Amino acid sequence: MPNSPQIPSSEPPFQVQPAQRVTRLPPYLFGRINALLYNKRRAGDDMIDLGMGNPSDPPEDFVIDKLAEAARDPRNHGYSKSSGIINLRREVCSKYFKRFGVRLDPDEEVIVCLGSKEGFSHMCLAMMGPGDTAIVPAPYFPIHVYSVALASGNVIALEVGDGDKFLANVAYTCEHLYPRPKLVILNYPHNPSTVCVEQPFYDEVVRLAKQYGFLVISDFAYADVAFDGYRPPSFLASPGAIDVGVEFTTMSKGYNMAGWRVGFCCGNAEMVRALGIIKGYYDYGLFQAIQIAAIVALRHTDAAVEAQSRLYQARRDLLLDGLRKQGWQVEAPRAGMFCWAKYPEPFASTMTSLDFSMKLLEEANVAVSPGSGFGPAGEGFVRMALVENENRLRQAVRQMGRVVGEKSGKGSEKVGA
Ligand SMILES: Cc1ncc(COP(=O)(O)O)c(C=O)c1O
Repeated sequence: MPNSPQIPSSEPPFQVQPAQRVTRLPPYLFGRINALLYNKRRAGDDMIDLGMGNPSDPPEDFVIDKLAEAARDPRNHGYSKSSGIINLRREVCSKYFKRFGVRLDPDEEVIVCLGSKEGFSHMCLAMMGPGDTAIVPAPYFPIHVYSVALASGNVIALEVGDGDKFLANVAYTCEHLYPRPKLVILNYPHNPSTVCVEQPFYDEVVRLAKQYGFLVISDFAYADVAFDGYRPPSFLASPGAIDVGVEFTTMSKGYNMAGWRVGFCCGNAEMVRALGIIKGYYDYGLFQAIQIAAIVALRHTDAAVEAQSRLYQARRDLLLDGLRKQGWQVEAPRAGMFCWAKYPEPFASTMTSLDFSMKLLEEANVAVSPGSGFGPAGEGFVRMALVENENRLRQAVRQMGRVVGEKSGKGSEKVGA
């Protein structure tokens, strides 16, 4: 077809105006970092990327073989069930029972998500609306805040650092805010701060939830990555938890299956049902071959998941030792895939975390996440993901040392205790 001639027009150009729920989202803070990382890579620099918690090790071979086998079966190529196939949901129940002593009904209390982030966001959409308020831990994993914002809800961010103080602040907020918060979002082991809790913390959460009538979403993304014998507790293992909330788990981190997008939402049947309704409209479920391979991974790769934690632990020790020698203040994380580090002077009092991260990228060829990407409570910190191997981490420490300068005598403390 010939091109139609351009007719000069006096009308204003056609404009696309996205909805407010899109326009009110803040600019993507990692944009500047990612653009510089991209440009330096294109220019041929060898960049060490500790920015994103994106596992770089593969799942077990037999899990990949199962995926290939299931992908060759023509019966697996149609739309799957949006709530996930029953055998996968049963496997999740079995893991919860073995690991936490929690009994779940695979029909009513478990749903498979396209990664836990999808499930989490849609759960916020299912539970929150205009005028509703959610409490989130600060510094915050961005989706915890923006899922609530996308659902037109309001956010109150409370410091995550000290568990007792956090709970006291939750109670205070419930006493003084009208209408009371509808939802409390929890995330332990916490990203980015690496704060962890023990079971009594969740017992108290359940007590408060019943007293003040709020719902709970526990984001348990790092359930499978823990060190030094620490076993992260499940919110659902606290008596009565299932009356007030749900918990999201994922195969992205411990199982090295981030790109597969396998997550689960378990717990309160009403909340699971509401999420199922939203998902029933929005998606047709996860590719069935992936669900079948995920069953195999859940059933047969406990040893590999533990070995992966040991790998992260060794990387943590190496990174901590190096950073402390350079004068960074960093606590040994007991779980998760990150070190959350206060960068040293004189940079701490003269540079924002974003500028300091840009400096590391520019001068050390190391990408980290600036703490301010996790809200104002993250300022002064950077987050480093333990996703590069030990040699690369050593190289990262050396290169960062050239920027911040070695300080002798520091950093000899034993890490991990
Ligand atoms: C706290 C937290 N929740 C959720 C996710 C997303 O996990 P998934 O890959 O299952 O969507 C991440 C990933 O970085 C995370 O750190």
